[in-house]
Amino acid sequence: MSRTESELQAGLDDDFKKVAESLRAIFVGAATRFHGRATHTYGAGARGEARICVPIGFPQNDFFVPGKTFPVILRHSSPGGQEDDRTRDGSAASIKFYETTADPTQLGFHDIMMNTGRALFVRTARAFHTMVTTPNPERIEKLLKPGILIDSILSEGYRNGGSFTDFYYHSQICYEFTDLSGTMHYLRYRLINGDRGPERGHYPQSWKPNGITWYPKLDDDFRAHDFKRQDFLQRVTHGGLNYLLQVQLRPSDDPEAVNCTGIWDQQRFPWLDVAELHLNQVLTADELDVLELDANRTHPCVALPLATTGLWSGLQADNHASLGHARALVYWAARKARADAPKPHVN
Ligand code: HEM
Repeated sequence: MSRTESELQAGLDDDFKKVAESLRAIFVGAATRFHGRATHTYGAGARGEARICVPIGFPQNDFFVPGKTFPVILRHSSPGGQEDDRTRDGSAASIKFYETTADPTQLGFHDIMMNTGRALFVRTARAFHTMVTTPNPERIEKLLKPGILIDSILSEGYRNGGSFTDFYYHSQICYEFTDLSGTMHYLRYRLINGDRGPERGHYPQSWKPNGITWYPKLDDDFRAHDFKRQDFLQRVTHGGLNYLLQVQLRPSDDPEAVNCTGIWDQQRFPWLDVAELHLNQVLTADELDVLELDANRTHPCVALPLATTGLWSGLQADNHASLGHARALVYWAARKARADAPKPHVN
């Protein structure tokens, strides 16, 4: 269930309030300046259908019910917010589930937001805040040396060229998933190509971004500035595209699950198929403009972990759950700012 405003606000300590307010101001400012999304600004989207396909033995619930179908919208984007697809960056995929029609003016009932890379390179809302407020030349000293940003994880998320359809996308944060028996499991998502092909496009392991989340294009990269978006739109139009949504489940007595810098061992927590997606109609720029994704829009059986609950006794902005909790406190405001920005908008 999406966390309510009162759940999100209840028991926030003053320090976390300040961190969240500062993040909100930063992203509201960026959305206003860009006339578009504060991050993941440029992308392409399509609508289609998801068919639920969980394996036998999957915990019973009201969402992932085998054979059920839902209209969906999927949007790919480049996290760094640069208009040029040749920018050296990661890659992203967002999915919105609807009950009846994939209408971007409607909110739907479940959103999933994913980036490339199996984990996130910062652990908490405070670390994320320090990252976005530290200028590039100071990142080695102020982020890498004290271990606030983990460069090897950042490096793993970079993807070179290729096609949006070549990459694996991860929610990185986990959710609380409660089955019909009342048992809670932690859950993470990943999206892969429907042919289950290997992931392509990694940078070499020697690549060290030095805490910098995107770099400009290489001088000798002469591909079209929008080659990834065009590739996606062409494939959707001519034959359609298939993806597979998968989850990992992890027991609720394992609080380390909430650490979004950790990689969940695939032997202990195998990837399980939950939905096959088929996309067959591209979205217009106006449709992309009104589309609203939120880390806190979830089906009743799924919920964002909160930094204000559990056994944590330190400052809430240092709790692993603060990363997702802060997103729930920020997205709505950034979205409002981009909607209120004078047109034309970018998408
Ligand atoms: C695991 C970490 C994260 C992931 C995987 C993630 C993923 C994404 C994705 C995929 C989008 C594009 C949504 C779309 O297609 O419309 C997005 C947008 C955005 N993200 Fe995140 N994000 C993460 C962390 C954060 C954090 C910590 C913040 C700030 C507190 C943040 C702020 C934003 C904002 C402001 C937008 C634009 C929202 C809009 O205008 O609709 N993100 N994110």
